[in-house]
Amino acid sequence: MIEVADPTALAAAAAEHVLARTAANRGRVAICLTGGSSPTRLYQLLATESYRNRLPWHRVHWFIGDERFVPANDPLHNMSMARAAFLDRCAPPENIHPIPTATTDLTDPDRAAALYQRELQSFYGADAIDNARPLFDLVLMGVGPDGHIASLFPDDPALDETARWVVGVPRANVTPLVPRVTLTLPTLASCCEMLFEVAGTDKRAILTRVFAGENLPANRARSTGETFWLVDRAAIPENFGGR
Ligand code: 6PG
Repeated sequence: MIEVADPTALAAAAAEHVLARTAANRGRVAICLTGGSSPTRLYQLLATESYRNRLPWHRVHWFIGDERFVPANDPLHNMSMARAAFLDRCAPPENIHPIPTATTDLTDPDRAAALYQRELQSFYGADAIDNARPLFDLVLMGVGPDGHIASLFPDDPALDETARWVVGVPRANVTPLVPRVTLTLPTLASCCEMLFEVAGTDKRAILTRVFAGENLPANRARSTGETFWLVDRAAIPENFGGR
């Protein structure tokens, strides 16, 4: 765990991880973003001049770990939030890879999942993940109040999915109660680095459970490379002994 003072410091630390991962790979870089509110400051920071000038935008590709299956103009839409915060201003449009969203022609989250799986496989250049060649350079993560990550909720059979890269989730466990589309654990694990961002006193209760080792999705999500937890002081469990 990496402790930081507050959400501002957390965004700055996360931005350094983004820079370090893009610098470590001289070729095409793949970053898997997360939704929810935790990464917003990071996304806004990446659009500021000092970071904007330091990122090799032309060779960085942006994916998303899960999506709320709503139209793209819905305020709940994760990739639209990331687009508004930084992508639309900074990234070449062809480097932005959203999960297909709900439209009148696309009403089934499983269908959207299958389409995104195909997009990921074509980017990766293979239909099966090779552990020696990670799909993503960096996967960003948040943790929900029930210990979910991406849209993989506790006790959902989707947690045990090993064949599909992306699945539809008909029912969310927490608000917003809309269907989701999510990358599966093996897909998210295929990265050089997984970086959790956790801030605020609201997260203290779930972090206490996660750090106690409870069987929660947050404890099953691990990179085949490195996994880091960036946590601000307010979120750190009381009497925390270290991790
Ligand atoms: C989503 C997310 C989800 C999120 C956590 C934390 O679509 O909701 O991707 O997994 O990361 O729920 O959400 P907050 O950052 O809003 O606390």
